[in-house]
Amino acid sequence: MRAQLEAVIDELRQMRREGVDSLYLTPETLEQLRAQVSKAAAAHPQSPTEIKLPPLRTASAQTSAADLKLELPSTAEAVKESRPKPAAQSGRKLPEPPTVKLPRGSKQKRWDVLREKVYEDPVCQEQAGNPERVVFGVGSLDAEIFFCGEAPGADEEVQREPFVGAAGQLLTKIIGAMGLSREQVYIGNIMNWRPDPGNPMRKGNRPPTPEEMGYCLPYLRAQLDIVQPKVIVALGGTAINGLIGGEKKISVMRVRGHWHDFDGVPLMPTFHPSYLLRNSTKESKRQLWEDMLQVMERVELPISEKQRGYFQK
Ligand code: URA
Repeated sequence: MRAQLEAVIDELRQMRREGVDSLYLTPETLEQLRAQVSKAAAAHPQSPTEIKLPPLRTASAQTSAADLKLELPSTAEAVKESRPKPAAQSGRKLPEPPTVKLPRGSKQKRWDVLREKVYEDPVCQEQAGNPERVVFGVGSLDAEIFFCGEAPGADEEVQREPFVGAAGQLLTKIIGAMGLSREQVYIGNIMNWRPDPGNPMRKGNRPPTPEEMGYCLPYLRAQLDIVQPKVIVALGGTAINGLIGGEKKISVMRVRGHWHDFDGVPLMPTFHPSYLLRNSTKESKRQLWEDMLQVMERVELPISEKQRGYFQK
């Protein structure tokens, strides 16, 4: 039941993100939902999650999503599970990073085996707080461009797909502006689990520790080895530092727009889409787009005059 309620909440949140601001619900439906919420609350009395429904109105009334906004818990709260503290905080060390050995065979076969290995990894499962929250990369196994982000967020761990939340929708738009679809590129993360902020009131992730990134890195390397992209796009400071950083922290501003190298693959560092959501200035959009134009040139994608002109002064 709880899973079904979570699915309803996810659907409502998705609709809200897509711009739906009102819903028609019959009093009967609302009443049924109310009954299910009470049942779920009774079944999980210790749960920190409280799901409230708006007051019942007449059959012709519209329930505004804005009303729901304050009352629906965020996905993060709705799916809160008990997770271990990050190793760094609890003094507990993670095991050594895994050694990845894949069978011979087609890209698809190797990728399937790898995904299963990641899904079944007990460390990933424990750190994710639930085996069903471990997240693996998606996209074309023949992609020329491999986008690498930081870690799944609350939406990604529910849908088990990288970049499906608000930042992901912006990434999808950026990929579209490049003349491609999500299915034509590969999208992965350094991390296979969401670094839980530990505080249910905080919606975002906490930054992964170097130890956590080190643990997941062999899985990212194995995905790169299968896909063999022509270019990696490192999205944001964590991915950049995790892939090409050393002891000293690299600033995105300093390296973005300049080619680097990761295991022999050209790597373009750029902003994380969530940075653009928070700093939606023409200048930041233009800078990210210039980085993408360099990527397009590198993989020899056609570039129209219109594309060249996006975000020009
Ligand atoms: N941010 C990331 O870095 N990765 C995701 O999958 C989603 C948001």
